[in-house]
Amino acid sequence: MIQADWMEEEKMSLKAKTRVLCTGGVGYIGSHTVVQLLQKGYDVCVLDFFGEGSFGLEVLRRIELLTKKKVSYFAVDLKDYQATLLALQHERIDAVIHFAGFKSVSESISQSLEYYQNNVIGTINLLLVMREIGCKRIVFSSTAAVYKPIERCLTEADPVGPSNPYGQSKLMIEKILSDLHTSEPSWCVCVLRYFNPVGAHPSGLLGESSKFPNNLLPTIQQVAIGAREKLVIHGSDWDTPDGTGIRDYLDINELADGHVHALHALMQRTDGEGCCKIYNLGTGKGISVKQMIKSFEEATGRNIPFTQGPRRPGDLAKVVADPSLANLELNWTASTPIRTSCETAWKWQCSNPNGYL
Ligand code: UD1
Repeated sequence: MIQADWMEEEKMSLKAKTRVLCTGGVGYIGSHTVVQLLQKGYDVCVLDFFGEGSFGLEVLRRIELLTKKKVSYFAVDLKDYQATLLALQHERIDAVIHFAGFKSVSESISQSLEYYQNNVIGTINLLLVMREIGCKRIVFSSTAAVYKPIERCLTEADPVGPSNPYGQSKLMIEKILSDLHTSEPSWCVCVLRYFNPVGAHPSGLLGESSKFPNNLLPTIQQVAIGAREKLVIHGSDWDTPDGTGIRDYLDINELADGHVHALHALMQRTDGEGCCKIYNLGTGKGISVKQMIKSFEEATGRNIPFTQGPRRPGDLAKVVADPSLANLELNWTASTPIRTSCETAWKWQCSNPNGYL
């Protein structure tokens, strides 16, 4: 009898659980978010095209190891509407967090059509399938790259005007979501514009797996392990206190937490009470390239040799978020010291010298 009661209770709690679909859930930001959602009691399923070899399955295995929870998944490419519909048509999904998308700025310039096809068409297919299955809540991964390049703390009201197809594809999706909410006001949309995500899961089991990184911290890590001889600082003559570029580096675990807060806000709304919100996710504090090198050296005890090179085309002196809206409305802030992010990134690098392979 006690056993039966317990099972009944378990069934009830399972029934009450919010079921969240994470597209791109085995990627860098997606995987960290899936862990937090599972730890907070959400029921999570992942939809991903499981790109390179078996790395996606390895990410899922590690997520399950960390959370002691099972994650169901669909190996589907969002570019294929029929396959996406087939996978999701009998699923109960309460909300979607949409991470899936190509994200390299340089690649987006050389392969613009593929970027638009993958990011924009993939999202349209997802939205059509969501409508078909009656799920109208979506948190969307956008980027600070949608803003017009200006050098001050950026608010959500600042002008947009991306300088590359990657940012442009994200902005197009933002527009599609906003138009969708206008034509069908019961949709609940939350767009998150990320600044510069850094760091890894404290366990060392999840992190950013990129063979040819261009971003600052992964490049510093490559120098630290000896895969590169030196870091090239792209410009030391910027109008900043030490002459090097300033960015808003945001710890990946706090960024993941931002998604949980955004999801929570959407789930508070009753069916039919739609919205279309945009939030910057950043710390509001700027860190220069030289400060990042120093923090990494202090956190790891490694020496990072560097040379001063020319400015990288398209770079800016300073890109920093004004995150006050997310602080206020999502009750979310990012305050992890950069040193902690350097420590976790280094732990990930040392435990996984070849990424997930
Ligand atoms: C880049 C992307 C942006 C994306 C973000 C994600 C471009 C133009 N923008 O932004 O769309 O959202 O990554 O993290 O690619 N630096 C060096 N040496 C290096 C690498 C970087 O000095 O080897 C400097 C850069 O000049 C910049 C800072 O480090 O001042 C940060 O660079 P990076 O990590 O590439 O990020 P963003 O350029 O801000």
